[in-house]
Amino acid sequence: MSVCTLTIDGQAVAAAAGTTVLQAAQQAGITIPTLCHLEGLSPVAACRLCLVEIAGSDRLQPACVTAVAEGQVVHSATPRLRDHRRTLIELLFTEGNHVCAVCVANGHCELQDLAVAVGMDHTRLPYRHPQRSVDLSHHRFGLDHNRCILCTRCVRVCDEVEGAHVWDVGWRGEHCRIVAGLNQPWGAVDACTDCGKCVMACPTGALFHKGDGAEEKHEEAWRLAVILRAHRAGTAP
Ligand code: SF4
Ligand code: SF4
Ligand code: FES
Repeated sequence: MSVCTLTIDGQAVAAAAGTTVLQAAQQAGITIPTLCHLEGLSPVAACRLCLVEIAGSDRLQPACVTAVAEGQVVHSATPRLRDHRRTLIELLFTEGNHVCAVCVANGHCELQDLAVAVGMDHTRLPYRHPQRSVDLSHHRFGLDHNRCILCTRCVRVCDEVEGAHVWDVGWRGEHCRIVAGLNQPWGAVDACTDCGKCVMACPTGALFHKGDGAEEKHEEAWRLAVILRAHRAGTAP
């Protein structure tokens, strides 16, 4: 196994060839913010939170899909990147209807945590207040499109791990939505096994257990991590 040596934020790091910059940073104890990434699912580089600067390139690169290279010099926390991340988080908040005070994920939300991490105490952009629906047709779970940030973690976990492929992404631009089946109510899709993996994978309060109130989102990240590790190792039941 060949090894690359690189620096991330001035820290010398050794990582196996083929490792991503994100994985190399995590192994070195350096935190790069992510939203769409979930170790064990295929990377899609959708959220752009993990963008880093790599010496020699003017283009910002997503750390979750960029492989390490020998001699690479990576910066993950420059003023340019901090400003970029804050703007991205502001866009996510203003594009949807994230009313944290009445959200099931309040206090257990990756989007909210990132807003705190980037120092977003207000937005510099106008709120769009889109009209979005809530799907309560499933007998155990619900989907609130108001809180969906289109990270597609639910799509990938249901397809790649559960093998049910209930979810997809429909339409484009401001009409883009997560859809169940062929844009059916979730409860009408026979392929759903009720496993709850999509709910566990959701970083916000968009997917939730029925009956949970504000701040009652189940903290199941560790359960999902175990499932994804077992899936990768081929030992999942
Ligand atoms: S509950 Fe399981 S099978 Fe049903 S949509 Fe979610 S991940 Fe797919
Ligand atoms: S429902 Fe949740 S997991 Fe699925 S795309 Fe929206 S935010 Fe991501
Ligand atoms: S975590 Fe890399 S683009 Fe979303």
